[in-house]
Amino acid sequence: MRIDVFTIFPEYLAPLDLSLIGKARREGLLDVAVHDLRTFTHDRHNTVDDTPYGGGAGMVMKPQPWSEALTYAASLAPGTPHLLVPAPSGRPFTQPFARALATEPWLAFACGRYEGIDERVCDFAAADLGWQVTPVSLGDYVLNGGEVAVLAMVEAIGRLVPGVVGNAESLVEESHEGGLLEYPVYTKPASWRVRGPAGEVVRAVPPVLLSGDHAAIAAWRHQQRLERTAERRPDLLRPEAAATTLEELGAP
Ligand code: ADE
Repeated sequence: MRIDVFTIFPEYLAPLDLSLIGKARREGLLDVAVHDLRTFTHDRHNTVDDTPYGGGAGMVMKPQPWSEALTYAASLAPGTPHLLVPAPSGRPFTQPFARALATEPWLAFACGRYEGIDERVCDFAAADLGWQVTPVSLGDYVLNGGEVAVLAMVEAIGRLVPGVVGNAESLVEESHEGGLLEYPVYTKPASWRVRGPAGEVVRAVPPVLLSGDHAAIAAWRHQQRLERTAERRPDLLRPEAAATTLEELGAP
């Protein structure tokens, strides 16, 4: 998979050199390129923003550097990328969406800063370059820009690309796969002696996990997933109440 990221803070994306995603890049499974948007400016100050038409607080990213950056991106490989634009007003980024994106050959990310990117940039990418364009939101909170969202999305998508995670089984029972949260996990020692504020306590692993009874362990884990989901994310047990997109609501 090819991934191009456009940002005014390329250093923000440095963690993509680390861990599993870094290894996948070195192995050629993920071809990630980070581009500095300011290289597509032509004034002395490398200006990327301006005041909003209609007034209001903050600054808006100018369309010109973006049109040049995206036109350059179009020349990097055959075909067209799916352009993802992180924004709190975007489509919710979910595990099923990550799974769908992981099957695409080419993704591009446009990191907005300030109050966002001039709306005509997305129109240009969709109508004039012929790209698929999707504004995406990590959640119902506001970040200072798209970079942190891109780090999260590239990790969530990249690890679903075949070969990136060595043990494919570890992808199956994770939180959100199968619509339930993950069960709690434990490792040695079975009986853990730990000093708390009120003195020494012993914390034991649930005995069923030491029983060797695989059916009982599977049943216990399933029950834990249900209880956790009911307590922490009841919306996942009532998916129709949590549907947030027309697609999820069953619109044609
Ligand atoms: N940029 C700013 N806030 C964001 C969010 N919640 N998700 C994605 N991109 C963002």
